[in-house]
Amino acid sequence: MENKDRVIIALDVDNMADCRNRVDQLCEQVSVFKIGMELYTACGQDAVEYVHKKGSKVFLDLKFHDIPNTVASVSRVATQLGVFMFNVHACGGGEMMRWASEACVKEADRLGVEKPLLIGVTVLTSLSEEELQKELSVSRGMEEQVVALAQLAKESGLDGVVSSPKEIELIKNAVSKDFVVVTPGIRPEWFVNQGQNDQKRVLTPNRAFDLGADFIVIGRPVTQDASPRTAMQKVLEEIN
Ligand code: C5P
Repeated sequence: MENKDRVIIALDVDNMADCRNRVDQLCEQVSVFKIGMELYTACGQDAVEYVHKKGSKVFLDLKFHDIPNTVASVSRVATQLGVFMFNVHACGGGEMMRWASEACVKEADRLGVEKPLLIGVTVLTSLSEEELQKELSVSRGMEEQVVALAQLAKESGLDGVVSSPKEIELIKNAVSKDFVVVTPGIRPEWFVNQGQNDQKRVLTPNRAFDLGADFIVIGRPVTQDASPRTAMQKVLEEIN
């Protein structure tokens, strides 16, 4: 895989004009764009179609979490949309993940297309261990819970998980090296040196790949730069 295929740019915008602008700016430098709840709620499939029209791939970051039948149905639709990757909450349980995975495999087979990568979200990184234990009554510690959900995701047929920078190695060691890890919270050194950082646990692109990340997700360090193309070029050069 080339570096441009391993860097995912977050399209955190709420209208098609900004979506088009961002994709046009960066589609020659990266292969995958992440469409999350904000853009999807605002623009729906137009955004997916636009990314595809430009020859790029979509990570549909909608974090599905519902009863197995509903998640299986939406997994079929995501497969029909031709997205490259999408995700579900691992805490929806093994049955929900198995149904999602089986629906993707069957639908891709029926359409004769490649199956999307199906990725689990373990524990939202916005949750603290205290909240996990006190509010959600989880008795395990944070790392144990993340690893247990990653293992359940693997057993249920998922291809990988989204992981905070801190947990990449832990997951790779506990599950398997070929279990896909997608990591947000990426901050190139030059960005942090400009004093611009609100993510709590961050890694540089190089460090994330060294620790075993398969894909990294970058948003503002590139998209908010005065020249997103130059910022992206710097990221790609750093990785080389
Ligand atoms: O702008 P920034 O690089 O922080 O954007 C990262 C993207 O990854 C955003 O779309 C954000 O919602 C997402 N994300 C994150 N941290 C997580 C999970 C997802 O920043 N733990």
